[in-house]
Amino acid sequence: KVQKSLVLIKPDAVERKLVGKIISMYEEHGLNIAAMKLVKLDKTFAEIHYKEHKGKSFFNDLIKTITRSEIVAIVLQGENAIEKIRRINGNTNPEKAEEGTIRKMYALNNTENSVHASDCEESAEREIKLWFPELVAKEEWFSA
Ligand code: CMP
Repeated sequence: KVQKSLVLIKPDAVERKLVGKIISMYEEHGLNIAAMKLVKLDKTFAEIHYKEHKGKSFFNDLIKTITRSEIVAIVLQGENAIEKIRRINGNTNPEKAEEGTIRKMYALNNTENSVHASDCEESAEREIKLWFPELVAKEEWFSA
């Protein structure tokens, strides 16, 4: 099944100039870039994006870290994209991430873990609508 997923290349990775290397990983696995932009988040937007984590012990750190400098937001598309991207990214915790994954190679810790990706179809749709409202006006974006 062809799916779309929202991927964020987080401040820690952009700051270390890893954008090209990270995008190459996705492209090498056959994923296509459907949309992309460079943005600096404000606190309000970051809290909406991560609202399911509100109240958790790491929430404040997460918001501070994701807003500290620019990030690259990408919609990737491809066969089984959501699961495929999660495998390419690796475990949230870089110490547990599998060999060859983005987080194993580049993540610094649980919070500065280089990338974010949608975890299921419902969150992909919610996140893409939040991040790229100008594109989602076209109904066919989600009926692929
Ligand atoms: P992400 O996929 O962006 O979604 C939630 C983020 O919370 C996660 O990646 C991590 O960067 C961050 N985070 C920080 N600490 C933890 C933790 N202990 N468990 C899970 N996620 C954490």
